Amino acid sequence: MASKLLHNRLRSLCRVSQLSNIRYSNSIFSTSQNHAQCRFYSEASQQTPLNPPPPPSPNNTSNTTSSTSSLNEFELAKFSSIAETWWDAEGPFKPLHLMNPTRLAFIRSTLCRHFRKDPNCTRPFAGLKFIDVGCGGGILSEPLARMGATVTGVDAVDKNIKIARLHADLDPQTSSIEYRCTTAESLVEEQRQFDAVIALEVIEHVADPAEFCKSLSALTIPGGATVISTINRSMRAYATAIVAAEYILHWLPRGTHQWSSFLTPEELVLILQQASITVQELAGFVYNPLTGRWSLSDDISVNFIAFGTKPGNRDETLD
Ligand SMILES: C[S@@+](CC[C@H](N)C(=O)[O-])C[C@H]1O[C@@H](n2cnc3c(N)ncnc32)[C@H](O)[C@@H]1O
Repeated sequence: MASKLLHNRLRSLCRVSQLSNIRYSNSIFSTSQNHAQCRFYSEASQQTPLNPPPPPSPNNTSNTTSSTSSLNEFELAKFSSIAETWWDAEGPFKPLHLMNPTRLAFIRSTLCRHFRKDPNCTRPFAGLKFIDVGCGGGILSEPLARMGATVTGVDAVDKNIKIARLHADLDPQTSSIEYRCTTAESLVEEQRQFDAVIALEVIEHVADPAEFCKSLSALTIPGGATVISTINRSMRAYATAIVAAEYILHWLPRGTHQWSSFLTPEELVLILQQASITVQELAGFVYNPLTGRWSLSDDISVNFIAFGTKPGNRDETLD
């Protein structure tokens, strides 16, 4: 009974028709492929631990700093080694550059609706404070700042922050971004809070996803929003995000992703719920190899993004 309720809840989250530029299609659970997800979900809610097992590499497990830290030193070393390439649109971060317009469309649509802003104006996020957790070289922080948000970008890799700072300083619209080499949990200790907390493609690289979500929630003001994107722990994701992207197309360096570190949408919804963030909307990203473009979809079997809210009255907590 409980799993059926949760299943129905997940179905209702995937109504990407709410996104202004997306054509509505049937529920994600209407195809045979997604029936498999539905079963997976039912199992997950009863048996699967919320934190998937750590990646099999011994390096990956032995180098985490502590149970409360989100840092996974093995993961961070990978990003440090390619930090100089953040703004090379043909380099290892090419998939993120290609995805950026699509994920920004989701963020603009969901956050404008939540904060009652006009998505069609040039600076819809004016007056809002956003944090981009795991900002890398700033490829998401910069457009958010151009859309008017007061942006803080944090990353655990110092080289990333240096690259982000140098790049943001090239444009007066982005030079006001606050970049810091730190973690979400450190900012929680500083009692920082933001209208929207955004962590794209980060949770699959942290030591403890559930603890990380708790930190993201603590950084979100009551009545605020949290946006997370990641990769589904599905066989399709193994085939495309790892085998194709790393071994065939060489889009990403080999070893960028550990399949066992991925979360299913069901797991993400649950750990966010446990962190007091209610997921309101889920959407998938799909890649069209013919056009070389990504688009939003109701197919969450590989890349997906979640928008959630924290209960409370935002007006009572603004600075
Ligand atoms: C795949 S990149 C995503 C970058 C950016 N969010 C984007 O989507 O363009 C993951 C980033 O998360 C950072 N990262 C990993 N673990 C982190 C942690 N515990 N705290 C902060 N940043 C972290 C890495 O250094 C890296 O820059």
